[in-house]
Amino acid sequence: MTVALVTGALGLVGAEVVRGLLDEGFDVVGVDNDMRARFFGAEGSGAWMRPHLEALPGYRHRELDIRDADDVTRVVADLGTSLGAVVHAAAQPSHDWAARDPRTDFAVNADGTLNLLEAVRCHAPDAGFVFVSTNKVYGDAPNHLPLVEDGTRWRVHPGHPFAERGIDESLSIDQCLHSLFGASKVAADILVQEYGRYYGLNTGVFRAGCLTGPGHSGTQLHGFLAYLVKCALTGTPYTVFGYQGKQVRDNLHARDLADAFRQFLRAPRPGAVYNMGGGPRRAISVLEAIAWCETHFGLRVPWRYDDRPRTGDHMWWVTDTGRFRRDYPAWNDTWDLPAIMADLHEGIQARLRE
Ligand SMILES: NC(=O)c1ccc[n+]([C@@H]2O[C@H](COP(=O)([O-])OP(=O)(O)OC[C@H]3O[C@@H](n4cnc5c(N)ncnc54)[C@H](O)[C@@H]3O)[C@@H](O)[C@H]2O)c1
Repeated sequence: MTVALVTGALGLVGAEVVRGLLDEGFDVVGVDNDMRARFFGAEGSGAWMRPHLEALPGYRHRELDIRDADDVTRVVADLGTSLGAVVHAAAQPSHDWAARDPRTDFAVNADGTLNLLEAVRCHAPDAGFVFVSTNKVYGDAPNHLPLVEDGTRWRVHPGHPFAERGIDESLSIDQCLHSLFGASKVAADILVQEYGRYYGLNTGVFRAGCLTGPGHSGTQLHGFLAYLVKCALTGTPYTVFGYQGKQVRDNLHARDLADAFRQFLRAPRPGAVYNMGGGPRRAISVLEAIAWCETHFGLRVPWRYDDRPRTGDHMWWVTDTGRFRRDYPAWNDTWDLPAIMADLHEGIQARLRE
């Protein structure tokens, strides 16, 4: 039986990927030390996910820290050539948090990625390797596009090449404000590309926009839609930071992302880089998401406005997934925005009742 290794298995992305790879026929080893609880407190902990995963046939959990090179090497070496796929989704995922402790952020995001790459190069060089990068590698470059403000959202000027399909991989990642998180992810992103291009490993980089799903342990610092829906359900005040609340995010269900990874792992293209997100059809501004909760779920969101935007935050991000679709035409992203919102509402409500 071929084995897959998934780091960050208790997180939003990792848990969906575990399920997707079990369906694909892999046995799965999940690595996660619930460091999310250290980043965001008990509210952000993914510990609740572990028994759900351990109930799945074929799943084994390893509670280790990816910063520990020896532990990472041991796990990968033990699996050896039975290791067919790696999805690296463990991370410090918040740009606000990174500014509090840049060393820890870099150690997890950059050094942790290097530890995995080296272990795979030495012990399982044929394995497919997916890295979950982020659109924050583009820093605040999207804010320098010609943006126009309308009633509830920012838009890129209709004459701009990104207006119709969103932002593609041609945007520079250089010479802009990234946040410390963006910088540590750039380091990891480039390392993963290099292990594909220089060493010929089967690596792929997926620069994700907003990912979501009921598996997200949303907190104010990470997990915008999940946290907003949780605030709506619990009556917790929600703070909107800057840009008049008109900042736009496109949202991709983590299950659709997991399917994209499966497509890549079936036929990896070493060193490939893909922007990955919900695209124009699943784009929504913060103000519109608040209105959605009110109109569709009958929930009043108690929100306040802080006119200081988060450092490096995007005013408008919509992903052009054209490159990935051309390389992997079988990818079928099925969750539209109403389905995503309904799933969040139902899933978070169920968790609150647990
Ligand atoms: N959620 C999003 O909107 C989004 C957007 C773009 C990119 N991403 C990227 O996707 C990846 C997964 O994000 P997510 O939303 O699932 O985050 P998450 O916080 O839900 O999951 C990450 C998991 O990694 C684990 N982890 C952190 N440090 C670790 C360490 N040192 N050792 C072992 N495990 C550790 C955490 O405990 C957590 O369970 C990250 O790389 C993130 O940057 C996420």
